[in-house]
Amino acid sequence: VATGVFDNRDEGSVYVAQQIASLIKEKNKLNKPTLLGLATGSTPLLVYKELIRIHREEGLTFKNVITFNLDEYFPMAPEDSHSYHMFMWESFFAHIDIDSSNVHIPKGTLSLQEVEAYCLAYDSKIQSLGGLDIQVLGIGRSGHIGFNEPGSLPTDRTRLVNLNRITIDDASQDFGGAENVPTKAITMGVKTILQAKRIFLLAWGNGKADVVRQAAEGAMTADVPASFLQQHSDCLFVLDTMAASRLS
Ligand code: F6R
Repeated sequence: VATGVFDNRDEGSVYVAQQIASLIKEKNKLNKPTLLGLATGSTPLLVYKELIRIHREEGLTFKNVITFNLDEYFPMAPEDSHSYHMFMWESFFAHIDIDSSNVHIPKGTLSLQEVEAYCLAYDSKIQSLGGLDIQVLGIGRSGHIGFNEPGSLPTDRTRLVNLNRITIDDASQDFGGAENVPTKAITMGVKTILQAKRIFLLAWGNGKADVVRQAAEGAMTADVPASFLQQHSDCLFVLDTMAASRLS
């Protein structure tokens, strides 16, 4: 993977937002849709903020943008304040002119019997629309991308997974205790992610420095699923100086 090190998260986020905005503009001119793979969590928040600014102040339209989010807790109702549905609408979609029918976020309310077909259809829809143009990723301290926890493989598709202990601990504050964090999630697979044409993995702060080093410079291994990004030909790790501090 390539790495881009920025003085701070604001500068890194503005860079990623500009890359996304210029692709949308290009595709809009050609009257073609832009497919974006999106992440939740704290990491991409400033990217969404900057895209909202570009929409408001520079008139960028998202009418031709189709989004696919990486993941959702399972089970999880979309109207629950902890849902990734709520997160995405509050931090991004409600503030731009995207058509709600172009927003895709894995459904946390399926019955177990429905999950497999649903996940297959999620991947098929991405492919049938031409594939993700850009995938935005954060990285978990467990080494996950999306919710592809240690043990995930580059052949994995979108599916129902178990969350790892580190991930549950990291979410416990938001949920008011580890016992309230869902133990499962639906996540895009590593394969689904690797099929994106361009990938930006964002990481900020000291807490991510170790896992960033393992993902960028360590062995490609299922122990650190983010390390599989080394297989991708157009993947940039967008880092602040702290997240980059353990790179050689
Ligand atoms: C979120 C996701 C996760 C997060 C990761 C980092 O949709 O897929 O992989 O990107 O857990 O979370 P934050 O950004 O909160 O540190």
